[in-house]
Amino acid sequence: MLNKRTKELEFSSGLRWTHWIRVFAITALTVTGFYIAYVFVAPAPSGTPTVFLNAKFRMWHEVAGFILIAVTLYKSYLFIFGKLSGKERISLYDAFNPKVWVAQIKYYLFMSKKHPKLKGVYNPLQFVSYVFLYFLIFIISLTGLVLYARCYGEGLGGFLLPYMEPIEALMGGLAMVREIHHIAMWGILIFIPVHIYMAVFNSIMSTEGSIDSIISGYRFTKTEE
Ligand code: HEM
Repeated sequence: MLNKRTKELEFSSGLRWTHWIRVFAITALTVTGFYIAYVFVAPAPSGTPTVFLNAKFRMWHEVAGFILIAVTLYKSYLFIFGKLSGKERISLYDAFNPKVWVAQIKYYLFMSKKHPKLKGVYNPLQFVSYVFLYFLIFIISLTGLVLYARCYGEGLGGFLLPYMEPIEALMGGLAMVREIHHIAMWGILIFIPVHIYMAVFNSIMSTEGSIDSIISGYRFTKTEE
């Protein structure tokens, strides 16, 4: 019996680009965000206050923040309407199938060697972790926009301010908005190792090139002859 593999396009270029741009944006946001929260480098004291290091960190934070918002909106559009995202949408069937849940948990706990047959590209645990990630990105973007509108009263900030003020009040004031923004960051930082663990686990166990597929786009499924 021969073990042949067939090459299947799993992730379109749009899905791969949006994944990696978000990796870079979230990394930049975490570094600059930590700086805003706990200033870890300070310029040498100078008589003329022209260094503005804090403002520069905040500016790059906001640039990366708007990139994250734009890419997330585009990725959400692709999820709903993208032709090649059909396999992502079909994962919803697996997420609502208790049999697949049980089989997947057994597989992760090494209680079964057989990976459950999935209709889509994500197993239920991956799918739920992505829903959780999108929820966190929504919260961090919304609170980020409130903070942005408060930093810049003119231009886009001025335009956004009347829409952001009720959200700020609902959250209990600007200090609470910062707190929620900060806590959402920790939520994302917890998601990342779990996400990488699941991706590496699946890649090692299935030998179908699951991790490579987020770079190359292709998965290599076994077909026995
Ligand atoms: C993964 C995404 C993000 C992370 C990890 C992150 C992290 C942080 C952290 C830790 C802080 C400091 C909060 C504190 O004082 O404790 C902060 C502040 C801030 N963030 Fe974000 N953030 C993210 C996304 C965004 C987005 C999408 C925007 C909107 C453009 C944004 C705009 C801001 C602004 C304006 C501040 C306040 C700056 C200040 O107080 O001077 N952030 N962020």
